[in-house]
Amino acid sequence: MVELEAAFAVVSLMALLVAALLSTTGTIHAAPTHPHSPPSPLGVPVALDEQALLSFRVLVTGDPHGVLTSWKTGNGTRTNLTSVCSWRGVGCHSRRHPGRVTSLELPPSNLKGTISPFLANLTFLRMLNLSYNSFSGNIPWELGFLHRLLYLDLRHNSLQGVIPLSLNRASKIPANLSNL
Ligand SMILES: *[C@@H]1O[C@H](CO)[C@@H](O)[C@H](O)[C@H]1NC(C)=O
Ligand SMILES: *[C@@H]1O[C@H](CO)[C@@H](O)[C@H](O)[C@H]1NC(C)=O
Ligand SMILES: *[C@@H]1O[C@H](CO)[C@@H](O)[C@H](O)[C@H]1NC(C)=O
Ligand SMILES: *[C@@H]1O[C@H](CO)[C@@H](O)[C@H](O)[C@H]1NC(C)=O
Ligand SMILES: *[C@@H]1O[C@H](CO)[C@@H](O)[C@H](O)[C@H]1NC(C)=O
Repeated sequence: MVELEAAFAVVSLMALLVAALLSTTGTIHAAPTHPHSPPSPLGVPVALDEQALLSFRVLVTGDPHGVLTSWKTGNGTRTNLTSVCSWRGVGCHSRRHPGRVTSLELPPSNLKGTISPFLANLTFLRMLNLSYNSFSGNIPWELGFLHRLLYLDLRHNSLQGVIPLSLNRASKIPANLSNL
């Protein structure tokens, strides 16, 4: 725990690490982001995460390897509110905010489509890794609202535009998008 907090202190100093510029970073786990904020109650916020992910999936127009086939709301009942955490590529690693999505990491799998601005509704997201796919279009500026985001890896897609201004401001990273 101490080690995790120390690791977090380091990354939060950097504010944001855009992995477009780095190749050696790993994932982080379960460091409390905002020690003074109350735990989120299960329910509506969790359903918002689900809605955000489903909105993301709608804009994925090609999924040749079926990576997103596990992304289902069950049979329409919303009784199992932690179910998004079992979806492929989705991680919920916050003890203080159980059931909230903290990472979205989809493997290299030729996913096509555009990146939904609704991802910005994943309030607790720390890691977004959509690298080595075939996403196109613009990087949604709304991603700048993800103020807990520590890792953003969009390398090797066909994306255009800039890393959202608010992300840039929060980071010390030059807007080097040559790898996008
Ligand atoms: C993102 O995923 C790619 C492919 O799995 C991996 O090589 C890369 O290290 C990941 N990026 C981060 C920041 O973890
Ligand atoms: C829907 O899911 C619930 C909870 O997992 C289960 O009890 C129920 O049998 C399912 N209904 C159908 C029609 O699959
Ligand atoms: C809810 O989903 C999780 C992850 O798939 C599963 O482990 C758990 O058993 C489910 N709980 C219920 C009550 O269905
Ligand atoms: C979710 O994100 C969309 C797109 O950014 C935004 O229009 C909408 O207001 C958000 N919804 C909530 C509940 O935050
Ligand atoms: C941007 O990144 C590429 C690849 O990492 C590097 O070759 C290039 O020199 C960088 N450009 C600037 C302006 O930093």
